[in-house]
Amino acid sequence: MKILVVGNGGREHALAWTLLRSSNVERVFCAPGNGGTATLKNCQNLAVAVDDFQGIASAVKANDISLVVVGPEVPLAMGITDYLQQQQIPVFGPTQAGARLESSKSWAKELMQSENIPTAQAHTFTDAAAAREYVERQGAPIVIKVDGLAAGKGVIVAATVSEAIAAIDGLFAQNFTQLVIEEFLAGEEVSVLALTDGKTIRPLIPAQDHKRIGEKDTGKNTGGMGAYAPLPLVDDSLQQRIQQEILQPILKALNKRGIDYRGVIYAGLMITPQGNPKVIEFNCRFGDPETQVVLPLLATPLEKLLFACVEQRLAAQPPITWNDKASVCVVIASGGYPDSYQKGYEISGLKTNSESGVTIFHAGTKLQGDRLITDGGRVLGVTALGNNHSEAISLAYGTVATIQFEAMYYRRDIGHRLKL
Ligand code: AMP
Ligand code: GLY
Repeated sequence: MKILVVGNGGREHALAWTLLRSSNVERVFCAPGNGGTATLKNCQNLAVAVDDFQGIASAVKANDISLVVVGPEVPLAMGITDYLQQQQIPVFGPTQAGARLESSKSWAKELMQSENIPTAQAHTFTDAAAAREYVERQGAPIVIKVDGLAAGKGVIVAATVSEAIAAIDGLFAQNFTQLVIEEFLAGEEVSVLALTDGKTIRPLIPAQDHKRIGEKDTGKNTGGMGAYAPLPLVDDSLQQRIQQEILQPILKALNKRGIDYRGVIYAGLMITPQGNPKVIEFNCRFGDPETQVVLPLLATPLEKLLFACVEQRLAAQPPITWNDKASVCVVIASGGYPDSYQKGYEISGLKTNSESGVTIFHAGTKLQGDRLITDGGRVLGVTALGNNHSEAISLAYGTVATIQFEAMYYRRDIGHRLKL
């Protein structure tokens, strides 16, 4: 069969690469893809943008494609699934109504409150003076969030009241009209990507991202600078609590509102020092870079799971199986990211062989003739599998050391919370 992946990041390269590991998948198309998907065997980029729904539908028909898998949140929030479904095209990813789980933080909070899902206390503000007054009353640390899609950059964790006030003033000045201000949660962050067909929800193995740009989790929030899986922190009993207290109730809340959600529910969780899982946010898609560490460990063919979601057969699927390796991804970014950065630098030193246990997923790259050049903030994700996390970390950094481009930046401490 042939499958179309929408998007152009590391997540989409990892989706295409994983789908192609199955003998049932003969070809993957990426719209628009990147330099990595352009050179992946049996994968082909299509010059169609993620928001060109008509172009995507035409490509499906022209290439005899059986399934569309949507990577990023933006086309989902714009209604790509609704559009393709109207044309009887099978698509993995929620409708516009379901994507509000990510595109409206205030609505997501309402859903959580309606089912008593544990989460940070939060209030929504449309007025800067009221927001400032609230922060002064609450004190710091406190968290200020833009109520809409902001590519992982609309969140300020303010350590002091004056930092929080500066954030509020800055965001309203940038014409954001609605902010969510919420309680700061301490603890360990865990990302759970759960597959759902609208009736049944099944988690993939949990992963931990590294959101901040700087080592020891300092500096600005980014889309994610590295990840690892599985997580020693999440044992069977915590996994069960996440299923019962968070995943099943959020699906129930969506059902009660008449939303038929078939795709990924990404639960971004904080495990508090008392060991309780609380929701930081929900996303309506696979996480990036989490997907780059989770999918390489998946033993069940991915397309079987995606079709089971789309055709509402997830309950009848055998348990999802995993290989017992540890997986680590180090993201290499352009110097300056998550603020402004230069593109167009030539990348050299990309060498891996399939036996090495290392896969280089491309995020912001493109091919220019036969040269590979940088084309985004996050450029590459180097994923390594090892017999344990230490081995995977050494393998990943061993490969990172061979790669060069002007002003490249990466964190040297991915996995530091494992305290190896
Ligand atoms: P979000 O886009 O909501 O995932 O937020 C980005 C990052 O900000 C999260 O991954 C956390 O590291 C941090 N963050 C968000 N909300 C909170 C909170 N209530 N308490 C502590 N940290 C938070
Ligand atoms: N890694 C964070 C995200 O995908 O939102």
